[in-house]
Parts: sequence; structure tokens; C-alpha cells
Amino acid sequence: MNEHPLPTLHACAITFLGGGAMASALIHGLTRAGVAPDRLCAADPSESQRRQLTERYAIRVSASNIEAVQGADVVVVAVKPGVVATVLDEISPALKPGALILSIAAGITLATLAARLPGGQPLVRVMPNTPALVGAGISAILPSPTTPPGQRLLARQIMEAVGLVEGIDQEALMDGVTALSGSGPAYVYLIAEALSDGGVASGLPRALADRLAIRTLLGAAKLLEETGLHPGVLKNQVTSPGGTTIAGLEALEKGGVRAAMMAAVQAACHRSRELGAPKKS
Ligand SMILES: NC(=O)c1ccc[n+]([C@@H]2O[C@H](COP(=O)([O-])OP(=O)(O)OC[C@H]3O[C@@H](n4cnc5c(N)ncnc54)[C@H](OP(=O)(O)O)[C@@H]3O)[C@@H](O)[C@H]2O)c1
Repeated sequence: MNEHPLPTLHACAITFLGGGAMASALIHGLTRAGVAPDRLCAADPSESQRRQLTERYAIRVSASNIEAVQGADVVVVAVKPGVVATVLDEISPALKPGALILSIAAGITLATLAARLPGGQPLVRVMPNTPALVGAGISAILPSPTTPPGQRLLARQIMEAVGLVEGIDQEALMDGVTALSGSGPAYVYLIAEALSDGGVASGLPRALADRLAIRTLLGAAKLLEETGLHPGVLKNQVTSPGGTTIAGLEALEKGGVRAAMMAAVQAACHRSRELGAPKKS
């Protein structure tokens, strides 16, 4: 039996430690999904960051992590990985028993997190991405083995409010997830920018090139998802013999785009592993 019954998503008090890019995306997504702003709180040392969060979302803010976690049912650890240990040491004595700790910090393992929290504190590691801002995120979630079913469900509900959720059962997969979907939006923005540049180089006005690039990425992704067809099949469908598309694809292959994309994900995965590795003294 769960010793600490939790309120449901819409009734629970959620505190964010760190009110930066990812916390803002989640706060935006949660309020968009109908979570009342007075249920949300964010602690951040930056005065301008706190002001922005209150002005945009009307949530409670604090300069004190300790004050912010008091009474919270869920504490989202949304600081940079290098600050996580300090923040957990600071807040541990102030946590409500049974409060769910939901960490989105890249590379920081469940064991590292648990070592700095009171024994048995419910704990879920999550890797979200910034499209959460518009309800189109995808997150991988991994609960610690001792996290009760109620808190597991709550973590899933929070992340489902801002996009799709993939449950994973091996922590080793988290570095690859971080590298692909966590960092991935940045790769796609780079592609969007390059597509638009190509359009401008071909004589298109910038604004038109931007709109065409965005909609092409969006439409192609939608078609992939909705048809369930392999990317190679859809690629072949738009490639006629001796046509324009095959000429473009040949240029991409000569430029090593496929290998560069694979190397990008692997480099990010390597960096995620480095962030999670114990520091040498
Ligand atoms: N951005 C992404 O796409 C993404 C995706 C998945 C996961 N993540 C993870 O999300 C976490 C946050 O990333 P982010 O991109 O949102 O970083 P960010 O924009 O730099 O946000 C972190 C915030 O934490 C604040 N902060 C620093 N020290 C603090 C402390 N001791 N207590 C409370 N707040 C503190 C920072 O304030 P100052 O700026 O004043 O230092 C900053 O506003 C990271 O662990 C990252 O691995 C990010």
C-alpha cells in the first residue's frame, strides 16, 4: 500500500528547481493542458527569469529552493547537470515525505540522485524535449525500483500533459534518448535553417523560404507518423528517374549528411555518458 497517497495531476503542487528553458517549456505545456497556475512554483536565482515566469504564466516564484519545495507533491529538478548535487543537498531536509522527485537533468543517474535524497524518496528520471512547449514533446521516463505505482503514474501524467511518453526499463538507454530526442530539436532547427538558406541561394525571398522549410519538415514528419511507412519508402515515392529530388539527394550524400547525423547523435550520447560519470578527484 502507498503510505503517501498523492493528489491527481490537477490537484498536486508542482515545484520546478531552475526556471530556465526546459522548465519554462514544461510550465507552458502544463498550463496549456489545464493545470492551474497556482499549483505551480519555480525557484531560480535569476531575478529576470523569475519575473518572466510570473509575467508569462502567473505562477508562484521564489529565489529560495528550500522555500519552493515546502509542501510540494512533485519537485522537478530542472537545473543544469553540474548543479544537481548541490541543489539536492540543499532541499533534501525540506522535502515533504513521499514527494515525487522528477529529474530531467541529462546524464545524472538514478543512483546519483538517490544518494543525495532521503531513503525511499519516490524518484523518476525523465528526458523530455522542448517541443513540450507546444504539447508536441516526447519524453522517456524511468522510475527508480522503489517508486510506488501512484507516483509512477503521476510522473507519466505530468509528461503526457506536454506530449508523448515512452517508458523505458534500462537506464543505459537514457543516454541514447538524450542524444536523439532530448538534443534532437536543435539538429532539426539547423536543418530548417539550412533548407531556408538553400531556398534563398536559389532566389527565394527569405520569409517564403522560411515558411516552406518549416512546413516541409512538419508535413514530412506527419506523413511518416501517420502512414507508418519506412522513411526510405517515402523518399523513393518523391524520387523520379533523372529528376530534381535525386539530384538533391546525391548532393546530400556527397556532403555526408547521413553520416554527420549519425555522428551527431553518437557525440551527444558520449557527452551524456560523460556528464553521468563519477568525477575523478
Ligand atoms: N533544453 C533542453 O532542450 C533540455 C532537454 C532535455 C533535458 N534538459 C535538461 O534540463 C535541465 C535544464 O536545462 P535548461 O536547458 O532548461 O537550462 P537553463 O535554461 O540554463 O535553465 C537552468 C536554470 O537553472 C537556474 N539555476 C542555476 N543554479 C540554480 C540553483 N542553484 N537553484 C535553482 N536554479 C538554478 C539557472 O539560472 P542561471 O541562468 O541564473 O544560472 C537557469 O535559469 C538540464 O539538466 C538539462 O540537461 C534540457
